[in-house]
Amino acid sequence: MAISLNSGFEMPLMGLGLWRMEKDQIGPLIITAIKLGYRHFDCAAHYKNEVEVGKALAEAFRSGLVKREDVFITSKASLQLWNSDHGHVVGACRDSLKKLQLEYLDLYLIHFPIASTHTGVGTTGSVLDEDRMLDMDTTISLESTWHDMEKLVSLGLEARNICATAHTPLGGSVANTKDFGSISCLDDPILKGLAKKYEKSAAQIVLRWGIQRNIAVIPKTSKVERLKENLQVLDDFKLSKEDMDLIKTMDRKYRTNPASKSWGLDVYA
Ligand SMILES: NC(=O)c1ccc[n+]([C@@H]2O[C@H](COP(=O)([O-])OP(=O)(O)OC[C@H]3O[C@@H](n4cnc5c(N)ncnc54)[C@H](OP(=O)(O)O)[C@@H]3O)[C@@H](O)[C@H]2O)c1
Repeated sequence: MAISLNSGFEMPLMGLGLWRMEKDQIGPLIITAIKLGYRHFDCAAHYKNEVEVGKALAEAFRSGLVKREDVFITSKASLQLWNSDHGHVVGACRDSLKKLQLEYLDLYLIHFPIASTHTGVGTTGSVLDEDRMLDMDTTISLESTWHDMEKLVSLGLEARNICATAHTPLGGSVANTKDFGSISCLDDPILKGLAKKYEKSAAQIVLRWGIQRNIAVIPKTSKVERLKENLQVLDDFKLSKEDMDLIKTMDRKYRTNPASKSWGLDVYA
């Protein structure tokens, strides 16, 4: 299953996320994933494993397992671009391409939306002030940016076929509990109830909820059994409208991936 982008390209709805993937597991896992049918890989410079991903992809292309044009590969500009250091876009992209051993990417993203001091549309500025501190514009909250994003959606972006990808589609599961102390959505009683009803796992319920809304999902797993389990949601069951609506009501009002806490500040506050 794929979603058609307004660029004319297709993005498979199921992808494999590669954050926190152990370097020595990546090669065999990517080859297995391709054999199982995965055709979408979510990479980033910041995941620090693009060299290993590149080796595995090169091997897959060289051996004829899959053709480059049949795989959708995303990368994201490195940490500097989480902010406003756009001066390095071309260099950062070239660096990822080199490491991934690719001639092109299917999607290239700015990794993280942080408002650093604005220097004018189309211009760039350093994210560090003269004291080498993060030069944030604290008058622009993430919430206000989010509302502006919602405004854009209502202005018709959806109608223009701009598609969304759900990163962390499992809420990070135990990885985010371990890293951030987050509560795993996979333990939620409603989702567990639906899992029982459909004779599926809670993970399969949330992934299906994503793709049934035509949102691409990129769960990360290092386990072959879970590669299969996650892929299965593409074709062997469907959530009823009633259950889709039920999940929609489940806003627990918390984030599972408060990444900026490791920088010593909470940008979501
Ligand atoms: N800003 C961004 O652009 C951004 C931010 C965050 C994430 N991402 C992307 O999104 C991908 C996915 O997000 P994520 O890795 O943070 O979280 P996630 O995919 O929601 O959850 C990953 C966790 O779920 C476990 N898991 C996988 N399949 C499972 C299943 N069927 N049942 C139970 N547990 C399961 C994994 O463990 P095992 O590995 O042990 O199976 C791992 O602990 C990342 O790898 C990255 O590519 C992008």
